[in-house]
Amino acid sequence: MQVSHKYDRELGYSSCILVPPARKVPDLAEDARNGILTPPRSLPPKYFYDGYGSKLFERICHTPEYYLTRTEEQLLVRFAEAIMSTMQAEEILELGSGNSRKTRHLFDACEKLRHLCTYAPFDVCEDVLLGAADNLRSEYSWLEVTPLLGDYHAGIANVPKANGKRIFAFLGSTIGNFDPDAAIRFLTEIRECMHPGDGLLLGADQVKDPAILNAAYNDQQGITAQFNLNVLRVLNRELKGNFDLEGFSHEAVYNEALEQVEMFLVSKKRQRVRLEELAEEITFVKGERILTEISRKFTAQGLHAMIEAAGMFVGSHYQPDNQYFSLLLARSGHDCGPRSGIEAEPD
Ligand code: SAH
Ligand code: AVI
Repeated sequence: MQVSHKYDRELGYSSCILVPPARKVPDLAEDARNGILTPPRSLPPKYFYDGYGSKLFERICHTPEYYLTRTEEQLLVRFAEAIMSTMQAEEILELGSGNSRKTRHLFDACEKLRHLCTYAPFDVCEDVLLGAADNLRSEYSWLEVTPLLGDYHAGIANVPKANGKRIFAFLGSTIGNFDPDAAIRFLTEIRECMHPGDGLLLGADQVKDPAILNAAYNDQQGITAQFNLNVLRVLNRELKGNFDLEGFSHEAVYNEALEQVEMFLVSKKRQRVRLEELAEEITFVKGERILTEISRKFTAQGLHAMIEAAGMFVGSHYQPDNQYFSLLLARSGHDCGPRSGIEAEPD
């Protein structure tokens, strides 16, 4: 087991377990070479999340327009006890855990039910992982936190074994950042890691009025724009690039036909950009775009179909009255538990 140690002025020394890749996934250099040298240009969204990008994402979550985080959090406040008492899990393993703030409601439920569990947050961003682990340890003295550092596309099959029943949590509608085939593949991989009695707690954003969706990804303070542009900063630092952040603008539009918000960086002018590390130069014409993220929006029916396509079934489906967001508790198809329909948030 490999461990990464880091010193931080505020946190002191802290460490994460490095999750070794079970398969090779492209690194930034390969993704940039395959994705942005020639049109149509795109980059995978994981590169948003360096330390600064993770901080920007946290700020997005607090904008008035980005309803996703607070809606999901309200569902967790209301249903965490039901989830934990149904699951009786010994461990929560969270994929793309970020600051783990919403997950705290599951720990609160553990306290109320006097059924303690351990927590393994798994994220690609070491800074956010260490900060979250530190906060949680001071808030919940009983909670054993094992931060796992790695890429979940590469490493999910290599996460350390649990000592009992486990909940795989995948919150925040991060599943919406996967295209349809990749989402089913990833959920299938999660299912393959599940043992009898384990569950998947999946948060997913629902299809709604395009005006609400467009506002959520174009906040007035421009934080989403900064988050989007931050990927150019990452390319500059990691690949010795010379992107001028002023030369690109943020664009996010809901594509009604595909039921997804598409986020782009748009070149404001004709410009040349050099990526020293790749020994490449890219010419962007005015208006040319790089697709940096898709955020798919789901219907209840579509979510159930996706879960079933991955070999699982939905045990509980929690959603608020306005049906803005879904929290699903799914089980492996090999488990024969009670199957239930959709539960609306009680008034
Ligand atoms: N679940 C949190 C954070 C969502 S943001 C919430 O709901 O608020 C997406 C998170 O996934 C970020 O913390 C990011 O660092 C992480 N992430 C993105 N791609 C990843 C990958 N390939 N492997 C592991 N973590 C990843
Ligand atoms: C993490 N992910 C689900 C967010 C989303 O809504 O797609 C990332 C984000 N992009 C722009 N705003 C937030």
